[in-house]
Amino acid sequence: MSKDNIITPLEDGPLHITGTLELLDADGKLIEETEELYLCRCGQSNNKPYCDGRHKKAGFVESAVFVTPPDSEEEQNNQGLLSIKVQANGPLIFRGDACIQDAKGQRIFRKVGGLCRCEKSANRPFCDGTHSKIGFVAE
Ligand code: FES
Repeated sequence: MSKDNIITPLEDGPLHITGTLELLDADGKLIEETEELYLCRCGQSNNKPYCDGRHKKAGFVESAVFVTPPDSEEEQNNQGLLSIKVQANGPLIFRGDACIQDAKGQRIFRKVGGLCRCEKSANRPFCDGTHSKIGFVAE
């Protein structure tokens, strides 16, 4: 039985993602299939897209509460494959049924979305396009 796909920004830390997951690089090549990921969202990891713990040294402070939750789709079963693609110099793009939940337990349901990994979005954990303005560089 497949696990629910759940995306959880951790307070002052990475994105924790569980479910039936595939992680793809910017060219669409498979990095790995797994059931759990910790992905950098502070922009400081030396092992992007993975978290390497540098958020602590970098003093990353983030409440992990939705600033402005985007509209949720209907509650869905959150199962099946959740594909997460690293966009070069930009966000993580996910496709598949997913529940995104914040530190207060607010939940939204989406089939596609962008998750900030540059640290500068005003609407974290979601990408708001700021990575382009600040010249974020990451493969
Ligand atoms: S990746 Fe941070 S705003 Fe897009």
